[in-house]
Amino acid sequence: MFEVNQNYAKLPGSYLFANIGRKVKAFSEANPDKKIIRLGIGDVTEPLTPAVVKALKDASEDMAHAATFHGYPDYEGAYFLRHAIVENEYKARGLDISEDEIFVNDGAKSDSSDLSDIFSLNNKVAVCDPVYPVYVNTNALCGRAGDYIAATERWSNIIYMPCTEQNAFLPELPTETPDIIYLCFPNNPTGMAITRDQLQVWVDYARKVGAVIIYDDAYEAYITEDNVPHSIYECEGAQECAIEMRSFSKNAGFTGVRLGYTVVPKAIKSAQGDSLNKIWAMHQEMKFNGVSYIIQKAGEAVYSEQGKKETRDMVAFYQNNAKTIVNGLTEAGYTCYGGVNSPYIWLKTPNGMTSWQFFDHLLNTVNVVGTPGSGFGPSGEGFFRLTAFNSQANIKEALERIKNA
Ligand code: MLT
Repeated sequence: MFEVNQNYAKLPGSYLFANIGRKVKAFSEANPDKKIIRLGIGDVTEPLTPAVVKALKDASEDMAHAATFHGYPDYEGAYFLRHAIVENEYKARGLDISEDEIFVNDGAKSDSSDLSDIFSLNNKVAVCDPVYPVYVNTNALCGRAGDYIAATERWSNIIYMPCTEQNAFLPELPTETPDIIYLCFPNNPTGMAITRDQLQVWVDYARKVGAVIIYDDAYEAYITEDNVPHSIYECEGAQECAIEMRSFSKNAGFTGVRLGYTVVPKAIKSAQGDSLNKIWAMHQEMKFNGVSYIIQKAGEAVYSEQGKKETRDMVAFYQNNAKTIVNGLTEAGYTCYGGVNSPYIWLKTPNGMTSWQFFDHLLNTVNVVGTPGSGFGPSGEGFFRLTAFNSQANIKEALERIKNA
């Protein structure tokens, strides 16, 4: 009789956003007359921009003619897209990343999960708490996280780095030495950013202890402050210790299109001297057949002059929503963080409610959906995440409703 990977049975629950989706669906089916405002999952609401739509149409047309038809894409991504990424995201900032260090994917979630495959199960993982749940869950599924301890809501073999009001939501260097450090800045879920100098401390630390940093930079487009790095490679030595994950989801609205990329510098070497770049290339060849030509052409269009302008406008629209939420909640007496370099606002739940109590309260009384902070880890208890992804009218209405909840 076949057996399944028993690590699945160890997971304490289902994926946070799938769980929320089911709760909201059940509420909506039971209350078909209610207008629900969704500020839960970080899913964009604005349509794709004209430059992107044109590229999608043109690329579809290419596929209709034998001379311009494309079959299997390159495993690592089309050169035209990797080149556009290098020129616009790295060279434009004076950073020396080359095309063969870029690996195009179908969005950052897959790689943030799959990266855990290429490291030894003996490696010790450190994560922020609260944390984007995928980092922990995928390490748990491959057997690196140990056992789930319900009493502490933590995995026995993971190093948790609490990010709380006391440390301004920035992790402190762990006392136990990790081999793999997951960092995400601007942070999901707290919406807080790290300065260049603060990130340099992590890069120096990783190099000192021989750890690799997996840096999730999905919210880079939302950075407004000068001292916040747009890439970890702005820190000296990062090319020797850091992998960077990027996405087209939150800047260009590709959550439904699916496109992202991972940067694996050639200079990163394991304890045995293996090149992580070569190992990741091998991983992608074995397990991935690339992203469709049509979608990669849409990604390239994001870097056209028109595409860049449209993308900036779209981000500015959500940034303005974030500002509206922060101002509105603060006026209403809520304590909130984030929203300055991020589309996420991290607020304290009122009247001593737990994160899930506040979730239920908002959904049931005023039909607004957010994400309970404790879903991101025990240090998220007593907090709640709202996203800036919605129309201005819905954001304003949600604020009014929350004020009256
Ligand atoms: C979030 O809402 O935290 C993420 O955007 C969800 C995801 O990308 O899986």
